[in-house]
Amino acid sequence: MLTSLATVLNKANRGGYAVGAFNINNLETLQAVMVAAEQEKSPVIISTSEGAIDYAGMEELGALVHLAAERSKRPVVFHLDHGKNYDLVVKAIKSGLYTSVMFDGSSLPYKENVKVTKKIVTMAHKLGISVEAELGAIAGIEDFVSVEEKDAHLTDPEQALDFVERTGCDALAVAIGTSHGAYKFGGDSQLDFKRLSQISDLVKIPLVLHGASGIPSDIKKQCIKYGCKIENAKGVSDAHIKKAVSLGIDKINIDSDLRIAFDAGVRKFLHDQPEVFDPRKILTPAKDLITKVVSQKMRMLGSSGKG
Ligand code: G3H
Ligand code: 13P
Ligand code: ZN
Repeated sequence: MLTSLATVLNKANRGGYAVGAFNINNLETLQAVMVAAEQEKSPVIISTSEGAIDYAGMEELGALVHLAAERSKRPVVFHLDHGKNYDLVVKAIKSGLYTSVMFDGSSLPYKENVKVTKKIVTMAHKLGISVEAELGAIAGIEDFVSVEEKDAHLTDPEQALDFVERTGCDALAVAIGTSHGAYKFGGDSQLDFKRLSQISDLVKIPLVLHGASGIPSDIKKQCIKYGCKIENAKGVSDAHIKKAVSLGIDKINIDSDLRIAFDAGVRKFLHDQPEVFDPRKILTPAKDLITKVVSQKMRMLGSSGKG
């Protein structure tokens, strides 16, 4: 059933677990994620980025997600991910499709981020839609050359409290050293847990971790074996994700892990069965691998059995 982000995350917050937000761009990925949610009896957040909307269309993706949610007994949130374009966020709110939107004003000056986020919160709340906002730059710790630079870019705990009080947002994406994509760290996974503890001591609404893919080694190996050039890909370790959840993260954003699972499935199938050219057959192992990855995440985050 379709549910708001606030309902799902407030429950996770009280229960000490996190809910995965999985990016979809097509029917197959949505089907694969929903199979995992059913198998795991887990709530699920289905995210569509601006890029996904450019690729497949807001109404098209919305129709697919609505059908899937209506047929499911699990709480399903339909979420706009990283809405940077104000008009697109307003369009998503007014579409009647989304139960949650993210306004990503992280690249704006602080005052402007507060002002626009607040405006979107007022508009969305009138329609029962939740709002996720972002403060700080989602970037890897190794990207900062000095402590001063790191402090200037990662989320400041006091500012996070001020931001949440001023905007009334339902969830806050924090920058603690993760980055988007498959290349997060040159060496081991590194997150600023001290900063996260300080933020969660002050900020009482659910917190969100973006850039949380783990780049599972078995999937990476399969991609590489069948020709994908991702030798240096590195994600956040499961231990670090679990620690982040224990310190107050309630929503975990995953896209890259689904992309590499899709890639691994397609490449292996095409290699093993070069005589087959039916897209339904080519895409089935990719869907199965995505389901496996998503199920593992749900168990790791503690959301299995909570839907
Ligand atoms: O946060 C970014 C997501 O991974 C979406 O990526 O903008 O390429 O769709 P995208
Ligand atoms: P990954 O690239 O680590 O999967 O992060 C996805 C994300 O944050 C989507 O908003
Ligand atoms: Zn993100």
